[in-house]
Amino acid sequence: MTKIFLSLLLPLLIAFPQTFPAAGANPTFLKSVKLNPLKLRTEKLSHFKFYWHDIISGSNPTVVNIVRPPPNNKTSASGFGMVNMIDDPLTEKPEIGSKLLGRAQGFYGVASQEEVGLLMAMNFVFSTGKYNGSTLTVLGNNPVFHKVREMPVIGGSGLFRFARGYVQASTHDFDLKTGDACVEYNVYVLHY
Ligand SMILES: *[C@@H]1O[C@H](CO)[C@@H](O)[C@H](O)[C@H]1NC(C)=O
Ligand SMILES: *[C@@H]1O[C@H](CO)[C@@H](O)[C@H](O)[C@H]1NC(C)=O
Repeated sequence: MTKIFLSLLLPLLIAFPQTFPAAGANPTFLKSVKLNPLKLRTEKLSHFKFYWHDIISGSNPTVVNIVRPPPNNKTSASGFGMVNMIDDPLTEKPEIGSKLLGRAQGFYGVASQEEVGLLMAMNFVFSTGKYNGSTLTVLGNNPVFHKVREMPVIGGSGLFRFARGYVQASTHDFDLKTGDACVEYNVYVLHY
């Protein structure tokens, strides 16, 4: 039976491959396109390291609180429900005055009732060198008091089209009094 199938159908599949997939689908709105038709490119892995500054204090804060959770005994310990919008500088070195590479724009919120576990949703918007204007998008869970927090890189734009990967975040400095934080980000992305 298999032999008959192969001997009859295989030549047909080879001769008319386009007639078999997606029977009934209307192809007018959907086309497969060749990726880089002129250049054969391979996916590469890049590693970036920079420092993310969440500045709450002073006259130029980079964070604004947009949702304050209702006061409630059960949720007050972790701050569950709180949401902040950020436009945080990303610098080459831990010092805020070091070379600016881009900004982390987006928001984070406390999504855990047990600990300060953030849901981070942010774009790294790069503004230097060949990556100027390109972005990476991070969406993940950030339990801020853990030593290393890993979050997925779910996409990108510009030079980072089709990006996927992960970041590892570790706190470099955290000022308990002001809430200002400097976090080291190690970013590993596959892209073209
Ligand atoms: C929690 O609720 C109890 C009873 O409603 C109240 O007496 C207590 O002060 C509250 N604790 C906090 C930290 O708000
Ligand atoms: C980045 O791109 C913007 C807009 O195209 C341009 O104004 C700016 O000078 C560029 N910055 C660098 C450092 O290349």
